Parts: sequence; C-alpha cells; structure tokens
Amino acid sequence: MVSVVAQTGVERPPGPPGKWLFGNLREFGRDQLGTMTRWAREYGDVVSARFGPRHVVFVNHPDLVEEVLVNQNRKFIKHYRLRQTRRTLGHGLLTSEGEFWRSQRKLAQPAFHRERIAAYARLMVDYTERMLESWADGQFRDAQVDMMRLTLEIVAKTLFDAEIGGDTAVASLAMETLMHSFIARTGSLLSPPHWVPTPLNLRVERAIRRLERILERVIAERRASGEDRGDLLSMLLHAQDEESGRQMSDKQLRDEVMTLFMAGHETTANTLAWAWVLLSGHPDAEARLHAEIDQVLGDRVPSVADLPRLKYAEGVVNETLRVYPTVWVIGREAIEPVELGGYSIPAGTTVFMPQWVIHRDARWFDDPKAFRPERWEGGLLQRIHRYAYFPFGGGPRICIGNNFALMEATLILATIARKYRLRLTPDAAVTPLPTITLRPAHGVKVVLTARSGIPRAANRPRPPESR
Ligand code: HEM
Repeated sequence: MVSVVAQTGVERPPGPPGKWLFGNLREFGRDQLGTMTRWAREYGDVVSARFGPRHVVFVNHPDLVEEVLVNQNRKFIKHYRLRQTRRTLGHGLLTSEGEFWRSQRKLAQPAFHRERIAAYARLMVDYTERMLESWADGQFRDAQVDMMRLTLEIVAKTLFDAEIGGDTAVASLAMETLMHSFIARTGSLLSPPHWVPTPLNLRVERAIRRLERILERVIAERRASGEDRGDLLSMLLHAQDEESGRQMSDKQLRDEVMTLFMAGHETTANTLAWAWVLLSGHPDAEARLHAEIDQVLGDRVPSVADLPRLKYAEGVVNETLRVYPTVWVIGREAIEPVELGGYSIPAGTTVFMPQWVIHRDARWFDDPKAFRPERWEGGLLQRIHRYAYFPFGGGPRICIGNNFALMEATLILATIARKYRLRLTPDAAVTPLPTITLRPAHGVKVVLTARSGIPRAANRPRPPESR
C-alpha cells in the first residue's frame, strides 16, 4: 500500500493559484468533478485551495480519509456546505453534533439492525412489484423518476409505516428544487440567509413547506392513533430523555423524520438510476446479471434469503457506487489545528474527501473508469484499503442506512431486471450533476423491453415460501 509522504515543515499544501476575491471558487463551481480530478493530478494527495474567504483542503489518499473520519474525528465537525441545509434538515442525525447527535443516533440505531432490516425486504420487493404493474413492453420511462418515487414510498413504509403513494410526485418535485438550489449556491460567494426573500429562497421555502406538510400528516396520524407500532417513528415518538424524562419536541421529531426521508431515498434512487445507465451501456454485464437472476430465482421474486447468491447483482451495486458515488464528496471542518499528511491544517479549514476522485484512482483500482462488476468477486472489498472505497463514509458518522441501502438496491435491481431490460433512448444525454448527491442531470430516459421467458402477468400469485 502506498503511503502518503510526509512533508514536515511545509505549512500549506500545494494548490492552484486563485483570484483575489473568489479564490478558486468560480473555477470549482464551473465543473466540480473535473476540477477536483485535475487538482489531484496536478498537486497530489493534499491540495490547498480557497473558496472566497474559506481555506479548503482536498485529501485524495485513503490514509488521510481514515485520519479525518476515524483517527482524528473528534477534531472535526460537519462542514459549512452541509450547514447550509439546516433550514431543511434542522438538527437531525445528518447535521447535529456532539452529545446531542450521539443520543439521537443511539435512539435510531435499533431500526437499522440487521434482523430488523431483513424484515423490510419483503416490503421492498412488494413495492417494486407494484410499480412494475404499470410498466409494459416498449414503454418509454424516466427511470430516475421511477426510482425516486419507489425508494420514497419504501422509506416511508419501512421506517414510518406510512403510505404516501399520492404524495410521491409532490415530494419528488420538492426534492428536485432543493437539490438544484444547492447547485445554484455553489460558486457564489455569498448566499443570502433563507429568510431573505430572493426568488431562489422563495422556491426553496415552498418546496420545504410541501415536504413538511407530508411529514406533518404522517406524524399527526400516528400521534392521533397513539399506537406503538414498534417502527422508527414510534421509537422516536416514545423516546424519553433518560435524565429529564422529556419526550422529543415536535421540531426535533420533524428534523429527524425529514432527515431520514431525504437521506433515505434520494441516495438509493440515484444509485439505481446510475446502475440502469451503466447496464444499458454494458450489455455483457447486463447478460451476466440476467443469467444469475434466472439461475437463482427462476420464476419467483427475490427474498432476503437469496441475497448471498445474488453476488453479481451485489457487484453491480458496489461498482455503480464506485464509478458514480451518489455521495461524491464528504466534508469536515477542523475545530482545532490538525496534522494531515505532514501538513499543519489550521482550525477553521474545510477538509474535503472526494469519493469521486479516490474511487477512480488507478492506485487502488485497475482500469478505474471501466464498469466491471466482476471486480468485486473474490473479496476485493477485504483486500483493498478500507478507505479506497467509502461510498457510505466511515468512523462514528458512517451512514446509518448502509445495510438498508445495499439490500434495497440489490433487491430492487433483481426484481426489475428479472422482468425488464432498460435501454437508454438514443437521445438520452447522461451527465453527472453534483448536487448534495450525484444525480443524472437530465434523468434516465429509457425504453423497456420485457424479457422473454418471463410470465407477463405482473401480479401472478407467488408461493409463500419464496417471499
Ligand atoms: C446508496 C445509498 C446511500 C449512500 C451512498 C449514503 C451515503 C452516506 C454517507 C457518505 C454518509 C456520511 C456523511 C458524512 O460523513 O458526512 C451518510 C450518512 C447518513 N445516512 Fe446515508 N447513504 C445512503 C442511504 C441511506 C439510507 C437508506 C438512509 C436511511 C434510511 C440513510 C441515512 C443516513 C443518515 C441518517 C446519515 C447520518 C448519520 C449520522 O451522522 O449519524 N442513508 N450516508
């Protein structure tokens, strides 16, 4: 394993020259993915830049990612770009800090235990099958929109036992607005606070209100029933502070539910959207996926018990998250001086760890830009540096939903690929758009082909043991 060469005594890491007011912000804002890649190539594993008044450092080596996320994690808090989402996410799990975060995480953790999420598998498959009832051979669809609605319904049902079928279109549009607002703010020196009525802020405010109305309904229904259904929503509603005995305030409840709604569907939906893009462009990989599905499942839908044998499907998900990591960069802000790769990093510096760059680095992956799901066969994950591949982050702030997401993505992929082949339409332009998540800029326009040999009646009864 190559390790980072310490350059003791050098105060600031090398980096691109910047303009006096904006520093490197405009260059970065114009093409975030391309700029990060170029800087890594030109300046190495630790790159210093300036975004307006802010000093930022990009670390492009797994050892350094481990330093920030694990070994020295107590010297960091979440970064300013994530703090810009406070109006939306409030002080939920993703954005809160310290003791408060720790107690909220402890509270939510049981909903993500392995046995618990295994019980969600059936719902995930059932909802996918229900979606497929409206699909037909030869149809044109936007697979990104479909995946977004599906994963939103799944997160609402599994974590909050809520049916939000009628609201998914509204929620998806609101999410779209929020994601685009994030882009609009990247590259600008000053973002007016959310209460200033700029056209952008007004659009964002309307989108947040739409989402809040959906969540308020879900919470109010449960409060009214008073029922403890044993799901995450009940856990949050009934949780009491050990010392004060107080229950969670409405505001805190709203923040946690909003965070889980947002973090719990967009990421998985984008992963699936990218998987369809990649499979459409790699018919060999698609053929191997179909062969595995036919062999393992025959004419039944997948269940959690099939997962250990759906290895190629798992490889497709892993490889998609490598090539198009839906969380494409993680950031932290140093709250005290730290040493990274031999450099002294002052307090207040923002440190970015770009999955987009590290996952595509030839030092860790052969032919890194190629989509090769088979590279994950034979335990690649155990052989590579733990932080050469970190789609879910790491350390104490690792994604709480990582196993949920991997299981969900694999089951949805297998359920759909069992019945349909998705091909990008000839005019489909696929460009990665780095918002908070990495999404296909123009959706994923596909045409469906029903796979031969698959019974066409989507709601054909299934034997109970196969569920
Ligand atoms: C492919 C899908 C997903 C990806 C790539 C992903 C990625 C990530 C990453 C990288 C982080 C860490 C961010 C940081 O360190 O700053 C994170 C945190 C988080 N994720 Fe996910 N995530 C996914 C799915 C989910 C799902 C399904 C849920 C919930 C159902 C979820 C809920 C969360 C929450 C609550 C946090 C904050 C955890 C904490 O700080 O304690 N994520 N996610």
